[in-house]
Amino acid sequence: MRYKTINPFPNDFFWSAATSAYQYEGGYLEDGRTLSIVDKNINPAYADTSVASDHYHRSKEDVALMKELGMTAYRFSISWSRILPEGRGEVNQKGIDFYKNLINELKANNIEPLVTIYHFDLPACLQEEYGGWSSRKVLDDFVYFCKVLFEHLGEQVKYWFTINEQSNMFLLPYLMEFEDDTPLEKQKYEMNHIMTLAHAKAIKLCREMVPDAKIGPAIGLSPNYPETCRPEDIQAAKVADDFRTYVFTDLYVYGSYRKNIWRYMEEQGINPTIEEGDMALLQSAKPDFIGVNYYQSRVVKYAPSTMEVKDMAINADGNKGETEFEVLPGLYQGSSNPYLEKTDWDWEIDPIGLRTLLNELNDRYHLPIIITENGMGAVDHLSDDEKVHDQYRIDYLSKHLEQCRLAIDDGVQLFGFCPWSFMDLISTTSGFRKRYGFVYVNRTDNDVKDLRRIPKDSFYWYQNVIKTNGLEL
Ligand code: BG6
Repeated sequence: MRYKTINPFPNDFFWSAATSAYQYEGGYLEDGRTLSIVDKNINPAYADTSVASDHYHRSKEDVALMKELGMTAYRFSISWSRILPEGRGEVNQKGIDFYKNLINELKANNIEPLVTIYHFDLPACLQEEYGGWSSRKVLDDFVYFCKVLFEHLGEQVKYWFTINEQSNMFLLPYLMEFEDDTPLEKQKYEMNHIMTLAHAKAIKLCREMVPDAKIGPAIGLSPNYPETCRPEDIQAAKVADDFRTYVFTDLYVYGSYRKNIWRYMEEQGINPTIEEGDMALLQSAKPDFIGVNYYQSRVVKYAPSTMEVKDMAINADGNKGETEFEVLPGLYQGSSNPYLEKTDWDWEIDPIGLRTLLNELNDRYHLPIIITENGMGAVDHLSDDEKVHDQYRIDYLSKHLEQCRLAIDDGVQLFGFCPWSFMDLISTTSGFRKRYGFVYVNRTDNDVKDLRRIPKDSFYWYQNVIKTNGLEL
C-alpha cells in the first residue's frame, strides 16, 4: 500500500550508523584490555580483531567524519574486557577514559551516543572460569558491568541497548561457546533464559541508576514467508516466526514463554530451568523500545517429522549459493525466495520485508522501534583515483529507508535508523572481504596497510539523505 503524499521523517529522528567494539576498535590487548570469547573464536581464515579498523587510536578523526556525514546519533558497543579486564572487580580507568573521551567528542559534535552494553564479547576469563552464559554466575558479573557503565557514563548516555542479537547467538553457535556433554539445543535454551534474565536485570538497574534514560534490546530479526499457500507451509512460516522471533520478543516484552514453544521444549526435554522469581523478574522489566537489526527475510516450508535435523550452514566466503538451510523436523525447513535478489553471501534483499516486520512488531507490542542495524555486505573496490562506487549499497539502503518512511505512515513509532556500518570493520563471518561501511578503510584481511579513511559514494548519498531529513532518498 502506498500513500498519495510523501512525508519527511520526524524532526527528531536519529540519523545514525552503527559499529561494535571488537569489530571496529582494535587495540585488543592494549591499556589493560583482555580477550573476549569473540576475539578468540572469530574465523581465523580472515582478519583477527587485534587492529580491526584502529578506531581505538583514531576516534577523534572518526567522529569528525561522523560530523561531516551529518549523523545526529551513533550506535556503538562497549568492550566488557576493556572496562573490566578480569570480567569483574577492578575497573580499568584507561578503558573508562577511552569511552568517556569518545562520548564527550560525540556530544561536542551534537551526536547522541546510543550504547550497546553487550555485543557478543564476553570476557574470555569468565568463559574459562564458569562456562560463561551457561552459568547463572554470569548474572552478578553482568550486573556489575552494567553498574560500572551506568555509574561512569550514565550522566552522558541516555539510550542503552542491553544485548545485541540474542536471537543470533542462539541460532549461530559460533557466537557462543558450548560444552560437549549436554545436547546443544538444551544448552541454547538454558543460555537464552539466563541471557534474558541478564537483560531484565540491566533494565531494572538502569531505571534505578539513570532514571531519565531509555533502554531496550537490539534483536536480529527476519520475517518468515511461506514457500507456497499450502496450509502446511503457512503454518510452518508461523512456527518459524514463533521459534526465531517471538520466543525472544515475547520474553522481552511480556516476560513469558509462548505456550507452543514451551510445550515443544518440554516434549524434547530441552526446556530451561526456571527458578523462583525468574518470571516475575522478566515481567517487571518491560523495555522502553525494541531495537531491530534487519538484513533480510527468509522463506520456509513444512518439514515432515521423518527428516533429519540439520543446522544452517552459512556462506562465509561470498560465493553465491553456498548457504545450506536449517531443517527442524516437524516444524519447518528453510528455502530460497525466487522473487528476491541476493547478495554474494546469499542474503535475500527484501526492503518490503522490513515494513512488514515493523508493522508486525508494532501491532503486537505497541512500543517505539529503532532500526539498530541494516546494511549490505559486499566486496568493495577502491579505484585508482581513490573512490568507491558502491551504488549497490545506496540502492539497498535507499529502498529500505523508503519502507521505513512508509512504516511510519502506517503508524509505526520508528525513531531512528542505524545502518551497519558507519565505517568498514571486521565482518563477523568474513573479515574485511565483506564490507558494510560508508567509509572505506584502507586495509585487507592480511595487510593492515595505512588504515586510511576514504568516504565512499554512499557516504555522500547518506549525507544528502540526512540533510533533507529523508525526503531525498
Ligand atoms: C549482525 C551483527 O549480525 O550483523 C554484526 O550484530 C554483524 O556484528 C552484522 O557484523 C553483519 O553480519 P556479518 O556476518 O556479515 O558481519
